Order: sequence, then C-alpha cells, then structure tokens
Amino acid sequence: MGAVGRLCALLLCGALSLCGVRAAARQPDTLYLWIDAQQARVLIGFEEDILIVSEGKMAPFTHDFRKAQQRMPAIPVGIHAMNFSWQATGRAEYFYEFLSLRSLDKGIMADPTVNIPLLGMVPHKPSVVQVGFPCLGKQDGVAAFEVNVIIMNAEGNIILQTPQNAIFFKTCQQGNANEDMARLSDWVT
Ligand SMILES: *[C@@H]1O[C@H](CO)[C@@H](O)[C@H](O)[C@H]1NC(C)=O
Repeated sequence: MGAVGRLCALLLCGALSLCGVRAAARQPDTLYLWIDAQQARVLIGFEEDILIVSEGKMAPFTHDFRKAQQRMPAIPVGIHAMNFSWQATGRAEYFYEFLSLRSLDKGIMADPTVNIPLLGMVPHKPSVVQVGFPCLGKQDGVAAFEVNVIIMNAEGNIILQTPQNAIFFKTCQQGNANEDMARLSDWVT
C-alpha cells in the first residue's frame, strides 16, 4: 500500500471508528508459559495444557513452590527432554535469560540444555523451548538440577523468574545415556 493508500485507510478507519474496535480487540501485552497438551500427556497422562505463567503471573499451583515440588515427581527415565511453550502477546517485548542450567549430580547427569540461545526475546508466536536432560548412563540414580531463568520487560526490569532455590529431579539409568543432543527426534520416546 502506498502513502496515499495508507492515508485513505487511516481516514476510512477513523470515519468508521474501526480503529477503536481494533485497538479493543488487540491482545493485551502479556506473557504465557505452559506445558502443551501433547507434552502433558507424555508426562502425567492427561492431555491438557498446564499453564505455568498466565497473563504474566505465575499460576497458583506454583505459589507454594515447596508444596508443588513435593507433588512433582522426578522426570522418568524415558523422558530425555521436555517441551515448554511460551508466547508474548500484544506488542510488548520481553527478554529472557537463562542464568543457570546446572546439574547438582554430575556423575549421573550433565548440565541440562536448552535448544535456544541463553539470552533472547520471548517470541510473539507460540513457540517451543526444549529443555534436555543429558543422563550419562554410568549409574542408576536421581539427579538434582537447577534451571534458573528470568524474564525482563523492555525497561530491563525482572518481571518473572524461577522460584528461589527451585530444584528439579531427573531419574537416570545405567546404560541409558542421552548425550547425543543432536538427535532431537529421539529425545522423547
Ligand atoms: C516437542 O517439540 C518438538 C519440536 O517442536 C516436537 O517435535 C515433539 O514432538 C514435541 N514432543 C512432545 C512430547 O510434545
């Protein structure tokens, strides 16, 4: 559309008050983070999205994180990676940074991985972030690990972050190594 076309569109839009309607229909500037139904089915057997952050706020089940963690089983042997989905709606820009991806049991599992850069912008389209759990296959056991991520607004203020001292657990098995992170399609079996 040329400049004249844009001007006409603008005038028409103004004349019909369509702009107001469109502004009202526009999605608000906010943030969502969830485990999609497909991943939830693999994880807990229910094919239903699990919202972790909704409209920029941590879901109620995370508020008492200690309690939530007690109900969170260790990630089973057969799951080598987990998909998280996220989306920034509206036009606002949000930035993320992984501050730590750390295994606390390095004899069982190497540091967890993510398939995106450690620092970047939360996409405006729903997108998947895969967190990988590289079991070493040297021994049976449960590895504790940290995944610390912060989300900042355009001004650089932290608006969300992994709860303080959050520790997650992954069950690994001897002879069941998962170091070949290039074979993405084999991650979840
Ligand atoms: C995880 O995401 C990848 C890439 O989008 C996809 O190929 C895979 O099927 C997903 N796994 C599950 C369990 O949803």
